[in-house]
Amino acid sequence: MITGKYPSLRLRRSRKNDWSRRLVEENNLTPNDFILPIFLIDGNNKKQSIKSMPDVFRYSLDKISFVIDKAIKNKLPMVALFPHTEKKKKNLLGTEALNENNLVCKAIQIIKKRFKNEIGIMCDVALDPYTSHGHDGLIKSNYVLNDETIKVLIDQSLLQAQMGCDVLAPSDMMDGRIGEIRKNLDSNGYNMTQILSYAVKYASNFYGPFRDAVGSKKLLKGDKKNYQMDFRNNDEALREVTLDIKEGADMVMVKPGLPYLDIIKSVKENFKIPVIAYQVSGEYSLLSNGINKGLVNKDVILENLISFKRAGANAIITYYADRINNIIS
Ligand code: PBG
Repeated sequence: MITGKYPSLRLRRSRKNDWSRRLVEENNLTPNDFILPIFLIDGNNKKQSIKSMPDVFRYSLDKISFVIDKAIKNKLPMVALFPHTEKKKKNLLGTEALNENNLVCKAIQIIKKRFKNEIGIMCDVALDPYTSHGHDGLIKSNYVLNDETIKVLIDQSLLQAQMGCDVLAPSDMMDGRIGEIRKNLDSNGYNMTQILSYAVKYASNFYGPFRDAVGSKKLLKGDKKNYQMDFRNNDEALREVTLDIKEGADMVMVKPGLPYLDIIKSVKENFKIPVIAYQVSGEYSLLSNGINKGLVNKDVILENLISFKRAGANAIITYYADRINNIIS
């Protein structure tokens, strides 16, 4: 590897001028690398700020075309829809997930009708926006049931596919759900609907602001450690990915992002499959608050995002995606 030594070899030579730095740059970002999460809320003419997430909003459905139009103009390949569900629509079983008139279903239809295939739509498959206890599945004696939950997730997946969702993203961490969802989609004629598995999802302390955004924070009883991964583990991440690929995942996600760059790298190196990194809400809010307080300058955003790319991520889900051109140019 090393082909010379000081003083004849000077690595600073290639760093001296801007043109030269650009010439040897190894990683770069384009709008194709980003997925924009959008929070939905009931009502009309609403662009509601979220206390724990500066510059992120919940939009009512009549505003959705405006948001999508901007995403398309910014050349983003995909958006991810997340509903803030009214408390009165939540219950123990999360039945609102299967209501074809729920916020996500309506939003998919509005977007597909107006924008066709100009942009991809990704939807979470999990019950947490809809359950009165804030967990991703059905519970019995405070334990999230696996197989019973999968039965509901299968129906939720099919419903979202029928509405026009392009990429289903199971974020629930039940064992075996990718295979069951794939089978059910295929047997119902949805063999071209993609699955992006939240394969490696850690039980993280960085999800707080998101739970606030979807209105599950105050409702959540306990934690999610009996289904999301222990952040002490890395081998287990590879086992999760192995299974999800076998079961039919088209892409896999690692979540959160920055504290898990090692995992992104090893998933990419081991499996050569599209890997999506999720820069989650807590990462976003910590950075944004630091910038807003003047503790760090805004270039820390680019530095964070490039690190995902360097680690091997194909794309990044980030709440900065609606401002990405200012950040990467
Ligand atoms: C729901 C879900 C969560 C996130 C995405 N989908 C939260 C959770 O598992 O509690 C977190 C995203 C973020 O923090 O930005 N299953």
